[in-house]
Amino acid sequence: MNHFEYRGGAFCCEGVKLAEIAEAVGTPCYVYSTATLERHYDVFRSAFGTRDVLVAFAVKANSNIAVLATLARKGAGADTVSQGEIERALMAGAPASKIIFSGVGKTAEELTFAVKAGVHQINVESRAELELLAEIARGLGKKAPIAIRVNPDVGAGGHEKISTGKGDAKFGVSPEQALALFARAADDPHLHAQGLAVHIGSQIRDLAPLEAAFRVMRSLAEKLRGDGIPIERLDLGGGLGVPYFNEPDPPSPAEYAAMVGRVFDGFDIGLSFEPGRMIAANAGVLVSRVVRLQERPRPIVVLDAAMNDLIRPAIYDAYHGIKPLNQPKGAEQAYDVVGPICETGDTFTRNRMLPPLEAGDLVAFMTAGAYGAVMASTYNARALVPEVLVSGDTYEIVRRRWDVAEQLKLETLPSWLATKA
Ligand code: LLP
Repeated sequence: MNHFEYRGGAFCCEGVKLAEIAEAVGTPCYVYSTATLERHYDVFRSAFGTRDVLVAFAVKANSNIAVLATLARKGAGADTVSQGEIERALMAGAPASKIIFSGVGKTAEELTFAVKAGVHQINVESRAELELLAEIARGLGKKAPIAIRVNPDVGAGGHEKISTGKGDAKFGVSPEQALALFARAADDPHLHAQGLAVHIGSQIRDLAPLEAAFRVMRSLAEKLRGDGIPIERLDLGGGLGVPYFNEPDPPSPAEYAAMVGRVFDGFDIGLSFEPGRMIAANAGVLVSRVVRLQERPRPIVVLDAAMNDLIRPAIYDAYHGIKPLNQPKGAEQAYDVVGPICETGDTFTRNRMLPPLEAGDLVAFMTAGAYGAVMASTYNARALVPEVLVSGDTYEIVRRRWDVAEQLKLETLPSWLATKA
């Protein structure tokens, strides 16, 4: 459930008309709903009842500090994949004790930063990384809390580019190697071997591969304990799909949690989760204005939003619902919907049935709160899209538009071009 709906003919985010935000802030702009973020966090967290779980929001899905602060105040931790994400999470008020640091390419500087910050857990993805981290922790006189990321050879996810769990993916180590690395870490005075981690993909719409991966995790933990090596936690990653409203709904958080309960029935171990999309996707929309229509047998709607603002359709053929901000009247017709960028890839959708649209109309791309603004760029020297957070009847700009004048402040001509020819 989300808090975007028509009220008296106007499409609203909570108590605010999106058209009012569009007029004040300009388009394109992202708009997020506080109530929806909070609700999604609550639904996910409460699905696990009294079990000891850490819900660490995957910052990569939406790293705006206002979004992170909203979730941190609810008690969420943060799953991060770069120093920048750790800094954002800390700035937003997530305690280091709830921050997980993952990723295949963590540098020595980033690992040093994470150990000094005292993060909850560093998810180690290779032997080389483990050795480097042990050396860094020794140098700092610290004990780094780690989990070993397992590649369970189970693939899943809404698109091949976001599947991470197959054996040939770049992520994690084989189950056998994970056991060996965990035992190695457990023997190191500067490492605290606390868990194993897994994440097999994103936009997963079927519980079976998740269940298979989680069963591998339980058996690995049992094996370690059987060998006398204590293990306290399992990090089960993110990946639960969300409705994009063009396909049957994916499993609910309650169904997901029930599956987790089945797999870990009678097994006493702390669990962590890293949901991103499930919390943020349906808590955000991208608002855009129709620039003009191209006359064709099937008319083309040219928007002021482009692939640089929302790239998911271009790279994953992703579907995003499109809603006019004025409650639609009149029969739907087929349109192609594109942005102004000079490549055919800048096409949001083809042959989509939509209510009649004309120049100046405002529309919202739905389910854009995750992997939307975070993946935006300034391609074609466009402004970086602003972000707005709504709470009840009020809203504030939480990232202002980064326009070309400001972008140019970062650029300089080299000395040999700085003087007039
Ligand atoms: N944990 C790890 C280790 C991850 O790699 C990811 C996502 C997550 C958690 C969060 O997964 P979620 O719950 O959001 O599915 N840009 C793509 C999605 C990439 C996901 C990458 N990893 C998209 O727009 O669909």
